Amino acid sequence: MIILAPMAGYTDGTFCKKYEDLFDVVTLGGYNIDKKTYLAAEKIEKRGRKEFLIKLDEFNEYIEKQINILEKAKVSINVRFVDIDECYSKLEYISGLVDYIELNCHCRQREITELGIGQELLKNRELLYTFLNKMDKLDKPILLKIRLNYITLNELINNLNYCRELFYGLHVDCYYPKKPYPDIKSLKVLYEEFKDKFIIGNNSITSIKIAKEMLKHSNAISVARAVLKNNINWIKDIHKLI
Ligand SMILES: Cc1cc2nc3c(=O)[nH]c(=O)nc-3n(C[C@H](O)[C@H](O)[C@H](O)COP(=O)(O)O)c2cc1C
Repeated sequence: MIILAPMAGYTDGTFCKKYEDLFDVVTLGGYNIDKKTYLAAEKIEKRGRKEFLIKLDEFNEYIEKQINILEKAKVSINVRFVDIDECYSKLEYISGLVDYIELNCHCRQREITELGIGQELLKNRELLYTFLNKMDKLDKPILLKIRLNYITLNELINNLNYCRELFYGLHVDCYYPKKPYPDIKSLKVLYEEFKDKFIIGNNSITSIKIAKEMLKHSNAISVARAVLKNNINWIKDIHKLI
């Protein structure tokens, strides 16, 4: 299975529709679905990084429109929030429309990490548990979008084990600081540790060769920047091979 990974400011319904034939699942977002993350995204955009700034009272209508644009692929949605009670009705609305909900434990933009979320969630297992425990009632498969090498692999595994029964899968950005290739060694350990979970390998997959290597240690793979760079011909061929 091959998935279009989320890219804030890019992966809305129209963008995903363009690549729908290439992917089994497309990921919308990341969307900011409460006041604090919306304000943080405004600041991020002011310093020049693209974000989705969807007015909170128009979000449900907006998201339904995006999903209606899509016809073939399954849909996942990547979300950020601080106050789950404030945005719970949005999560309920979304869960009626999509196939997966992806909780962003990945973002490293300062305005988001200052709120104690994004990649900070990887450190704060109590908050992660609280979010996931409430999201469990949505009755949708929950994916955690995580980043490797922010905390040690041991700490990551311990914190994920703490809420193990509350998530369906891990979307793993195998980010390797200062290296131009993914940390496949750590992905292998996670895949062994979470055999019962759906593991998506991500980071720097730009060819069938790398895709095959990643798939030795994951159930699916995902791609982001290669799509922005229009390096997609290899994806067209991959379905014949995997
Ligand atoms: C412009 C851009 C925006 C991104 N926005 C998000 C996001 O909102 N949420 C998220 O979980 N990951 C986000 N990512 C990370 C990607 O989903 C992916 O994990 C990362 O780019 C590594 O995969 P790649 O090597 O295939 O690009 C973003 C990446 C890019 C390049």
